[in-house]
Amino acid sequence: MPGDIEKAARLIFTSKYVTCLTGAGISVESGVRPFRGPGGLWTELGEPPMDGYQKFLANPKSHWEKTMKGAGSDWKFLKAADEAIPNPAHYALANLEEMGIMKYLITQNIDNLHLTAGSIKVAEIHGNIKKVRCIKCNARYDRDDISMDKIPPSCPKCNGIIKSDIVMFGEPIPLDVLKICQRETRKSDCMLTVGTSALVYPAADFPLEVRSNGGILIEVNLYETELTPLCDISLRGKAGEILPELVEYIKRLR
Ligand code: APR
Repeated sequence: MPGDIEKAARLIFTSKYVTCLTGAGISVESGVRPFRGPGGLWTELGEPPMDGYQKFLANPKSHWEKTMKGAGSDWKFLKAADEAIPNPAHYALANLEEMGIMKYLITQNIDNLHLTAGSIKVAEIHGNIKKVRCIKCNARYDRDDISMDKIPPSCPKCNGIIKSDIVMFGEPIPLDVLKICQRETRKSDCMLTVGTSALVYPAADFPLEVRSNGGILIEVNLYETELTPLCDISLRGKAGEILPELVEYIKRLR
């Protein structure tokens, strides 16, 4: 609706603690497929089984052998995510953080694009493709800093088994990052959701909690979602076009 972007800019500008939840949709304009909706990976393959982590624990060596060979139905998705570059939507959110308007960004994406775009206060609830993590002590390392001569690789700190930092289906969200997401959600009086179908928990809970605490919800999505009816404003369109315009409106209010 015309004027909605300006209204959203005012709501964001007058809120005290603005946070953002992003999903796969924000990276579509960087060439990374979404999971659901048109062009979605799960739309094509069907939702994956929920026991990926249990299968990994049963045989970490064979999981690593498959990963090293580039086997697996999500291999092309992971390659695109690994090689993608930020689009104007990622830079717009980094800009809002730099302006002191946005306090924290929770992303469900594993593509590292928010960090590459310059966002600093970022919680990656589903992990990061460029990192690996020890399943025993939770230490994280840059993927390239861990030797793959022996698989599964072991943790330099505690000798535990190392896996990708990407949270697998059936794997608990690492407590350290979950606590940050819950803390930031509790502090929010306004949450901007960008490019998420808001169907996967616990991330989908965060905007609901902001809402139930009387906070403002603003959505940026190509289509209607489960969240749309609960949003104060739902901006329909591409994140890469809407977010830069939203930032311009906010700049004019300063
Ligand atoms: N701009 C804005 N929104 C977009 C764009 C775009 N250019 N392209 C797609 N979208 C929207 C779609 O309409 C959809 O609502 O982005 C959303 C993407 O939804 P999903 O593919 O379900 O992604 P997400 O919400 O991040 O999924 C959550 O599910 O499979 C797991 O771990 C995976 O982190 C992922 C989680």
